[in-house]
Amino acid sequence: MSLLELEDVDGYYGNSHVLFDLSLSIDTNEVVALLGRNGAGKTSTLRTITGVIPRREGHIRFRGRDISRLSVDKISNMGIKLVPEERRIFPTLTVQENLQVARDSAGGSDPRPIEEMYEIFPILDDLRESRGQNLSGGEQQMLSVARALVQNPDVLLLDEPTEGLAPVIVEDLSETLEEVVERDVTVLITEQNVEFALDLSERAYIIESGENAWDGSIEELRQREDLLEQYLSVGAAESD
Ligand SMILES: Nc1ncnc2c1ncn2[C@@H]1O[C@H](COP(=O)(O)OP(=O)(O)OP(=O)(O)O)[C@@H](O)[C@H]1O
Ligand SMILES: [Mg+2]
Repeated sequence: MSLLELEDVDGYYGNSHVLFDLSLSIDTNEVVALLGRNGAGKTSTLRTITGVIPRREGHIRFRGRDISRLSVDKISNMGIKLVPEERRIFPTLTVQENLQVARDSAGGSDPRPIEEMYEIFPILDDLRESRGQNLSGGEQQMLSVARALVQNPDVLLLDEPTEGLAPVIVEDLSETLEEVVERDVTVLITEQNVEFALDLSERAYIIESGENAWDGSIEELRQREDLLEQYLSVGAAESD
């Protein structure tokens, strides 16, 4: 049985139908990439899982239980945590306080020690007393992931963690996330930075216009320049 499974899921914003019969599944401790162009429906897919999208249909199962009608809070308390594109750090709280608030609101799960977060994210260790508003984009992203991770999620949903980050920061984040995924977490990560996502993941789903377009192993995807070009605009033109 998959840990998390979407079967023929449709998603809507009001009258706007954006996800069409979307299916995907993730096993425990897998790291899966959800790839697709701008507007393909990656964020909307994560929002259907967490219940944030205004209307969803189809089956969404977590540990075999249908969660497609549960509230955002219930789903979060079951252990599915989203790190949204916009990072939503508390600006006037320090790094330590941001982590403490997250840990205190962990809900059902058994939270991880804050000290463990400083081990994984040494950058944050040096910034314990810094306020959220004084962190750089990269530091905020690290804090945003740490805040989700301290809640000890069963599934961590990462929405474009590299968005807006300078290349050298992306490298740091990549190394840090490598360490995160080694700690028995299940991750679904969306990215437009394909290389970043491929390095981290074992399997990938490509979506286009809210529909499944392809899925398979990262090994296979790396050989399929046609797919990278067709669905992800990564091609000969861009690599030199
Ligand atoms: N709040 C909203 N209201 C109405 N339509 C929306 C809303 N958010 C997204 N959409 C539409 O849903 C579709 C999928 O968008 P979504 O944000 O899920 O794509 P994405 O793959 O995450 O894109 P990006 O790479 O730019 O983040 C797009 O057509 C978008 O215009
Ligand atoms: Mg998005």
